[in-house]
Amino acid sequence: MKTPETRLLGRIREQVRAEKPYLVPGARRVRHKLNQNESPYDLPPALKEELLQAFLDVPFNRYPDEQPADLVRTIARHTGYPAEGILVGNGSNELTHTLGLCFIRQDAPVVVPRPMFALFESVIRLFGGRAVPVAPLPSLAFDTDGLLSAIRAEQPDLTIVASPNNPTGLAMSFDDIRRLADAADGFLVVDEAYHEFNPEPSATRLLETHPNVIILRTLSKAFGLAGLRIGYLMAHPDVVTEMLKARLPFMIDRLTDLTGQTLLGHTDLIDERVAAMSASIRELSQALERMDGVDVLPTHTNFVLFRTDQDAGSLLEKLAGDDVLVRNMGGYPELQGYLRVNAGTPSENSAFLAALTRHL
Ligand SMILES: Cc1ncc(COP(=O)(O)O)c(C=O)c1O
Repeated sequence: MKTPETRLLGRIREQVRAEKPYLVPGARRVRHKLNQNESPYDLPPALKEELLQAFLDVPFNRYPDEQPADLVRTIARHTGYPAEGILVGNGSNELTHTLGLCFIRQDAPVVVPRPMFALFESVIRLFGGRAVPVAPLPSLAFDTDGLLSAIRAEQPDLTIVASPNNPTGLAMSFDDIRRLADAADGFLVVDEAYHEFNPEPSATRLLETHPNVIILRTLSKAFGLAGLRIGYLMAHPDVVTEMLKARLPFMIDRLTDLTGQTLLGHTDLIDERVAAMSASIRELSQALERMDGVDVLPTHTNFVLFRTDQDAGSLLEKLAGDDVLVRNMGGYPELQGYLRVNAGTPSENSAFLAALTRHL
């Protein structure tokens, strides 16, 4: 018999009840945390000090702007894209929810490649859409022809690709992204969370010619601001005007706003760090490739996927025992046996490689 509580829970939308909460598995305190594709570099102490001083003048009792106009203008200068076509979110994940709110109709198809950053398919389910997944090629690269066929067959309002892709680290070529944008009558979202590490041109070039293209970006990776939550979206200004009607006001608090504006004024620092992380991931990939019995995927991000002949879960535990945390990708059916490690500082990379060598 149902208790009153379970009857009550039955009134919560079934899409919500069927979902699992987004949890980062194995979250624990370790010395070398290489499991969330974060930057290993915090802001320099002098910059933090400058920000803390500036925070003293921020009135905490006053609401921030409904939408952070100054931060939007700063991002417009940084990207060279007009402010009217930019929407800032509390991390790009929050904008993904707004995409769901604006573009996903009940039972409507949404074309996505697999494997795909898990949040997207979760948002599709939560908003009642129907994911139309397209399997990768045997190399785990995007099956662009498969995606094109799915777009033509389903005529979706929305197609989403993350390029470079998390979880694989592989990028889609600019030409292939253009083919998707050409084929889609609906919107094509390109999540460029890792674009600073990608030698392929950004899909932002398509914004001028393709009003259906929407680009998602984040300051959580190259900018090292995962803890403060800033993401942004670039789209045709008319699309942004519509989206603004659906989105919550006041999502960017005053401290985050100020930090974002300050950090975007230090592009030299960001360039330096992107160069350091790019060198770090190159060295990490090459060191993994030199190891016997380790399969490594090419990467266009700040992380790399690898597998050994050991069970991924037990290897992860052994590495964690040595104070190195990586991510088990076995939750994705296509990535059984794979672990993911992100670029750390040189000493973190050494700690990881030494631990892996010990346990191989
Ligand atoms: C492809 C992709 N998109 C978005 C995000 C999250 O970005 P944010 O921290 O801005 O929410 C991640 C984080 O891992 C990611 O891998």
